[in-house]
Amino acid sequence: MKNIIITGGAGFIGSHVVRLFVNKYPEYNIINLDKLTYAGNLANLKDIETKANYIFVKADICDYDTIMELMKKHNVDGIIHLAAESHVDRSIKDPFTFARTNVMGTLTLLQAAKTYWESLPEKYDGKRFYHISTDEVYGALELTHPDGIEPPFTTTASSAEHHLAYGEKFFLETTKYNPHSPYSASKASSDHFVRAFHDTYGMPVIVTNCSNNYGPYQFPEKLIPLFINNIRHRKPLPVYGKGENVRDWLYVEDHARAIDVIFHNGKTADTYNIGGFNEWKNIDIIKVVINTVDRLLGRKEGEDMDLITYVTDRAGHDLRYAIDSSKLQRELGWEPSLQFEEGIEKTVKWYLENQEWLDNITSGDYEKYYDSMYKGR
Ligand code: NAD
Ligand code: DAU
Repeated sequence: MKNIIITGGAGFIGSHVVRLFVNKYPEYNIINLDKLTYAGNLANLKDIETKANYIFVKADICDYDTIMELMKKHNVDGIIHLAAESHVDRSIKDPFTFARTNVMGTLTLLQAAKTYWESLPEKYDGKRFYHISTDEVYGALELTHPDGIEPPFTTTASSAEHHLAYGEKFFLETTKYNPHSPYSASKASSDHFVRAFHDTYGMPVIVTNCSNNYGPYQFPEKLIPLFINNIRHRKPLPVYGKGENVRDWLYVEDHARAIDVIFHNGKTADTYNIGGFNEWKNIDIIKVVINTVDRLLGRKEGEDMDLITYVTDRAGHDLRYAIDSSKLQRELGWEPSLQFEEGIEKTVKWYLENQEWLDNITSGDYEKYYDSMYKGR
C-alpha cells in the first residue's frame, strides 16, 4: 500500500504518469495535486477520474498548510513532483512566475515533506521524494556531431554504445549545470534544493532530467502540438531562427514508464538522465509533421510546406540538447519502446481525432497568448 502525491498531474506529462499509476497500481492511493493553471486540464484524465484509488485536489505547491494537511490526512509516503511552469518562451516574458512556482513551490513541498516525515516514528524509512527535471539545466551542446554527420540521429537504445563512445558530446548525469533561460535556471535551482535536502537532512530524494517529450495532451504552445494545430487551420508556422536547433524527442508514455521504474527501483540520492536517443533539427521534424498531418487529413503530402515562416529567434536559444540515458538502460533496464516514426504518427493521429480537446484549449485566452508571443515577430 502506498499513498502518493503526484503534483502537476493535470498537465501534459503528469496526466500520463497519473493514468499509468492509477491503472497499474490499484492498491495505491494516487492524489493528484494541481493548481490548474492555464496548462492544467482535468479533461486529460477523464478516463480515470472515477477510479477508487484516485483523488484530485486543486491546490498550489506554494501553499505549505494545504500540503501539510494532505500529507497527514493521507499518510503520504511518496511524492512525484512534476508541477511547474514549463514553457521557455513564457519564462522569457515573466521570469518571476517561474521562480515562484519552480523554486519556491519545490522548496515548500520539500519542507512540508521533511516536517511530516520527520514527525513519524519510522522517519524517512520507506519514503521517497522524486523530482522531475529537465535536460535544459545542462545548457547547450555544439551543433556539430563529433563524427561530422548531421541529425536526425534516430539511434535506438540498443545502440547506446554509440552515445557512450562520444561521452561529453552528450549530456551525462555528471555534466555541469549551465542553464541559460529563466525556465532552466529555475529548474536548476529546484534540483539543487532537492539534493540539498538529501545532503543536509537525509531526505530520500531522486532526480531525473529528461529530454523533450511529445505525444497526446501537450498544451499547444509547444512546438509539435502548436504546429499540428496551425497546419490544420492553415496558419503560418513560426520557425525560430533558421530552424537548425536540435532537440532529442521522447514519446511521453515512455517517460511515464521511466518514472515508474525509477520511482520503484532507482537508487536514493541518485540522478538518471532520460532521453529518446532521437535527435532532430527543428526544421526536419517540422517537415515530418507537415507531411503526416497532410496525409492524415487527406491533403496532398507536403502541400502545406509553404506555411513555414522563419521568424525572429528565441532569445538565448539553446542550440542542441542530447541526452545519454545509457545509465538508466544499464542499471534499471529502461529503454524507449517506440521508434520516432511510430510515435509521431500516433501523436498526429491523436490530435486530429481529438480536435474538440484542441478547440477547447485554443479558444479564449489562448488567442491573447498567441498574439502576445507571435505578433510582429
Ligand atoms: P505542463 O506545463 O504541461 O504541466 C504543468 C502542470 O503543473 C499543470 O497541470 C499546471 O496546472 C501545474 N502547476 C503549475 N503551477 C502549479 C502550482 N503552483 N501548483 C500546483 N500545480 C501547478 O508541464 P509538462 O510539460 O507536463 O512538464 C511536467 C514536468 O516535467 C515539469 O516539471 C517540467 O519541467 C518537466 N519536463 C518537461 C519536459 C517536456 O518536454 N514537456 C521535459 C523534461 C522535463
Ligand atoms: O528539453 C526538455 C524541455 O523541452 C522541457 O524541459 C520544457 O518544459 C519543454 O517545453 C521543452 O523545451 P523546448 O524549448 O525545447 O520546447 P519547445 O516545444 O518550446 O521548442 C522546441 C524547439 O522548437 C525549440 O528549439 C524552439 C523551437 N520552436 C518552438 C516554438 C514554440 C519554434 O521554432 N517555433 C515555435 O513556435
